[in-house]
Amino acid sequence: MNDNRRISVGLVGLGRLGRQHAENLAFRIPHCTLTAVCSVKEEEVVAAQRELSVPYGYTDYEEMLQNTELDAIFIASPSGFHCKQIEQAFAAGFHVFSEKPLGLSIEEALRVREAVQRHPDQVFMLGFMRRYDRSYAYAKRQIDAGAIGEPVLVRCYGLDPAQAMPTFLKFAKSNYSGGLFLDMAIHDFDLARWYLGAEAETVWAIGGSHRYPEFEQLQDAETGAALVQFGSKKMGIFVASRNCAHGYHIETEIIGTHGSLRIGTNPDKNQVVLMDERGIVQECTSGFLERFEFAYVDEVIEFIRCIREARKSEVTVADGIQSTILGYACKLSFETGQLVAVQS
Ligand code: NAI
Repeated sequence: MNDNRRISVGLVGLGRLGRQHAENLAFRIPHCTLTAVCSVKEEEVVAAQRELSVPYGYTDYEEMLQNTELDAIFIASPSGFHCKQIEQAFAAGFHVFSEKPLGLSIEEALRVREAVQRHPDQVFMLGFMRRYDRSYAYAKRQIDAGAIGEPVLVRCYGLDPAQAMPTFLKFAKSNYSGGLFLDMAIHDFDLARWYLGAEAETVWAIGGSHRYPEFEQLQDAETGAALVQFGSKKMGIFVASRNCAHGYHIETEIIGTHGSLRIGTNPDKNQVVLMDERGIVQECTSGFLERFEFAYVDEVIEFIRCIREARKSEVTVADGIQSTILGYACKLSFETGQLVAVQS
């Protein structure tokens, strides 16, 4: 392969996250060119083309798939579109990156697995970017090196800032997100599987809406928790909320037989401490774009490398399916109040 070859990407979805991916693809990813953008909102397409110098713009995804200059499709549309758009992109011969979650139902996620298997020469990668965050990746290397013995329990907090509530409600009302467990806790489910090296077997999930009753109309919860039994008697405790008063708080603890690791115990914005009449003030990270800024770049660098080096991504379609199965089991448990056996 020509070492200078650039991978030409077409991106669909220019919303909260898609617009940031577009900027990264245009300016921050080596050997990558953002050749086309697509959104159903024409004004987003026009703005991205103008501001990021993107030659092609579309309001119709299928039209973008006919662009023969493209090598890869990058999907950042609402979750309910992922599976169909992945299948269409594979059928049209492209490498595919899709944002999480893989799908909102197990059936559609399994169809994607078939599409991936039918096209073994096309790269598929799912946006579990936390695996590319430097702290999470370091923790994984420590675990693999035996630093805490055998990991047996993972405890995760995934708390979205209450300040982002108006933007979130707009997002959730315009397109079904899958609910708290499939939309938010899915990152933690992936991390727990990754760190524990085990799959979920049984879940009990609960939730409630105390500050924003609108969540009940969306059949969702503002705050929820899940207790998960993994294989080999390993355990997971997950707390997810949309209503975190102090900001964006993503915290993970992995307890092992000989020690434990904690990531993000204090979700500090940076290393600055302000001391004034209020006392000692340390600001909190404001949201996912700030906390995972570099992870969103590093995961895409890896996607482009996989294409150029003709190899598979570490984050596979199976990871997408397993986390969707677990997320769906939590949703079912929350909705029915029952203990749910996770489909294997
Ligand atoms: P958003 O609602 O802000 O943006 C969606 C975008 O897709 C908009 O540009 C909209 O016009 C466009 N769109 C909608 N339907 C379309 C269609 N049929 N064809 C083409 N374009 C269409 O959503 P947001 O927050 O950017 O989320 C997008 C995806 O990214 C979701 O699946 C979400 O779960 C995921 N996400 C992942 C995060 C992560 O940490 N990895 C963080 C935030 C979102």
